Amino acid sequence: MSNVMIFGATSAIAQEAAKIFAQRGDGLFLVGRDDVKLAALAENLKVLTGQKPDFKGIDFSSTAQITEVIQQATNGFSGLDVVLVAHGSLPDQRRCEENPDESLDAIRVNFLSFVTILTVCANVMEKQKRGCLAVISSVAGDRGRQSNYVYGSAKGGLTTFLQGLRNRLAKSGVSVVTIKPGFVDTPMTAHLPKNFLFAKPSAVAAGIVQAIDRGKDVVYLPFFWRYIMLLICLIPERFFKKLKL
Ligand SMILES: NC(=O)c1ccc[n+]([C@@H]2O[C@H](COP(=O)([O-])OP(=O)(O)OC[C@H]3O[C@@H](n4cnc5c(N)ncnc54)[C@H](OP(=O)(O)O)[C@@H]3O)[C@@H](O)[C@H]2O)c1
Repeated sequence: MSNVMIFGATSAIAQEAAKIFAQRGDGLFLVGRDDVKLAALAENLKVLTGQKPDFKGIDFSSTAQITEVIQQATNGFSGLDVVLVAHGSLPDQRRCEENPDESLDAIRVNFLSFVTILTVCANVMEKQKRGCLAVISSVAGDRGRQSNYVYGSAKGGLTTFLQGLRNRLAKSGVSVVTIKPGFVDTPMTAHLPKNFLFAKPSAVAAGIVQAIDRGKDVVYLPFFWRYIMLLICLIPERFFKKLKL
């Protein structure tokens, strides 16, 4: 049994992961920005398992609130085994191009809040000399494309941050799992036309839990995105810049 803290617990992918953790008897501490949604999720998990997880709504732009909630979970659990960081928002790329504040908001949610959470959690885990930080990045961070480079750059920065963090924490016995989903059918992508490349949140969640259990470093979900992104990254920049991607 592990103690699992989830940031962005109300995300479709995180909710499915929470179900898997809860069903196998792991202790849960759910963090989101909306207390009402979190309470409903905690009730659902109680119906499923008989155990009602702790939860707290916070402002993800507040270093003080992030630090406080991590302290609360660490004290309640007597340590942290797994932290899954799963919040995020897909900005409108066009609006980001027109208004720098839109771009900055997207970078705040999709990168800066992760830096705060991971910096605090890393120090807790480094001290206790165990734990796993599992973080949802994206294939969008592997190469910048005109259709979503603001979101992509936040995820690319996050992926690089995680590489360095993994390198730092390896000697302390703390693992860092970078999770790179392709398209997933969730509220975040509700406005996009669907095709065969869209995965179900339950399948992605199962892949996340398996990657944590196996101590993976980087996982593409579903697996074939590794090869799609390999091909995309191999296209020389002089051709790539002319493509409509
Ligand atoms: N769906 C995809 O195709 C896809 C692909 C690659 C990576 N991802 C990544 O997977 C993760 C989970 O996304 P999802 O697809 O499950 O999306 P989702 O169901 O739309 O969930 C988004 C989550 O982020 C939270 N959130 C949004 N803006 C926030 C803010 N400003 N402050 C704090 N929390 C905020 C939402 O909170 P509320 O519930 O309160 O709104 C919700 O918990 C994200 O990191 C996303 O970038 C998704």
